[in-house]
Amino acid sequence: MSHKVAPSVLSADFGNLQRDIEMINNSNADWFHVDIMDGVFVPNISFGFPVMASLKKHAQKPLDVHLMIVDPDRYITRFAEAGAHVLSVHIEACTHLHRSLQAIKAAGMKAGVAVNPHTNVNQLEDVAGDLDLVCLMSVNPGFGGQSFIENTYRKIEALKNMQARLGVQFDIEIDGGVTLANYKKLVDTGATVLVAGNTVFSASNPIDTISALKQ
Ligand code: DX5
Ligand code: ZN
Repeated sequence: MSHKVAPSVLSADFGNLQRDIEMINNSNADWFHVDIMDGVFVPNISFGFPVMASLKKHAQKPLDVHLMIVDPDRYITRFAEAGAHVLSVHIEACTHLHRSLQAIKAAGMKAGVAVNPHTNVNQLEDVAGDLDLVCLMSVNPGFGGQSFIENTYRKIEALKNMQARLGVQFDIEIDGGVTLANYKKLVDTGATVLVAGNTVFSASNPIDTISALKQ
């Protein structure tokens, strides 16, 4: 199975959002990556439901929603109504992660967990069978355009080992600092979804760049 590419809307031009959404519609991208930040869990505020509604209206590909918010349980049904296909919550923001994952699935979405750079992925072992996706943060969450953290390769390997050991499957998504220089090694190591913000939207030809990331 070939890997997926999910351009991050955070790096789009919000004054020309429909144009940038159409660009992604017309590209080889698989998903829209949608970053929701609350200014509490991360030191930045991105956007909320009104922008999600505009996205939903124009996007012709699944919405991969990454919640960087405290107490995400409060909003699970709202994000289902807003059209999320995958909903990822941060392990660091969930006291009852197992319950959160069940609630996401009960609302009809794929369940993802995002993991900060300092968090050991072995903490996921007891929910591994409940996961559709693990989003490995390869930068500290909050901003686009940061440098990739090299330790991420080890975390991919640890997740691959966990999958083999437990006989479970889930997507391994890499979020932050993905470039044309590192994407191939990430896929070869075991990544199945690549998020790309700056690499796509700062490119002179975003459509070609998305195609290159799909190679
Ligand atoms: C960071 C976000 C990322 C971000 C990635 O907190 O979760 O999705 O948009 O941006 P780049 O690809 O520019 O590092
Ligand atoms: Zn993200």
